[in-house]
Amino acid sequence: MKNRSLVSITDYNQEEMLQILDLAAEFEKKPNQDILGGHVVATLFFEPSTRTRLSFESAVNRLRGRVIGFSDSSSSSVSKGETLKDTILTVSNYSDLIVMRHPLEGSAKYASEVSPVPIINAGDGAHQHPTQTLLDMYSIRKTQGRLENLKICMVGDLKYGRTVHSLLIAMADFHPIFIFIAPEELKMPEEYKSLLDRKGVEYYEYKDIGDNMDDADIVYMTRVQKERFSDPLEYEKVKNVYILRNAMLGNTKPNMKILHPLPRVNEINYDVDTNPKAYYFQQAQNGVYTRMAIISKILGVK
Ligand code: CP
Repeated sequence: MKNRSLVSITDYNQEEMLQILDLAAEFEKKPNQDILGGHVVATLFFEPSTRTRLSFESAVNRLRGRVIGFSDSSSSSVSKGETLKDTILTVSNYSDLIVMRHPLEGSAKYASEVSPVPIINAGDGAHQHPTQTLLDMYSIRKTQGRLENLKICMVGDLKYGRTVHSLLIAMADFHPIFIFIAPEELKMPEEYKSLLDRKGVEYYEYKDIGDNMDDADIVYMTRVQKERFSDPLEYEKVKNVYILRNAMLGNTKPNMKILHPLPRVNEINYDVDTNPKAYYFQQAQNGVYTRMAIISKILGVK
């Protein structure tokens, strides 16, 4: 992993993913350590973010590294027409590692090809969000005690939601059963279902929540990705398609946990938050430990 970019979750094999989870568990026990020395991490966010950027920055600060970067590209020379290549070549002069979020699919791969320092993909369009996947896996293993043989129910925008795409790829090798709940317009894309077919992974598709999540171990809720719709009317049609309410959880498994990459809009009612099955804010906290593990592995300090 040392000095390698993390663009797609497929950049790590299963053993490497498990190494990250194990190291994250060590960081959870001791989250403040002086191990990054003089390393500088740049966070370049061409798209809005709360959790990903701030948990990366928290991780670097807790490990005594330094952070530079921007959270709004309009305050950078991108607004003057500077290309992504020139931005990356410039920032790589100032940093040892670049964490980048960008609206264009494939932008992280391109950045990794031109950059002399490793790139971590913090989300590229509707494509992938590999560090979210590792923190999701960490949350799943922590709450279920294992990654193998779990029933994982994904609900909402399965078309544009990059977090479900990365998570599906990563979990496919742990013998899961997937339940996909989405309206016709936001169904899981064929390429991901083909991947499951090739690997012999069972999956079922439904349009309604009904009792379809009742025997799930994990219910992974997603936001309808307004920013990916070219037609606002299409978004209006599906924006409130699923709203998870506390009253709907009565028949679910006792140890079931509800995950959500956040931010939420309306898809989880606030009355769910106090249910012990709600795990999304702890999940966001796990992002700090997981990102500490990813950064320290790539910089070769652990
Ligand atoms: N989960 C996630 O990517 O959240 P942010 O958009 O706030 O970073």
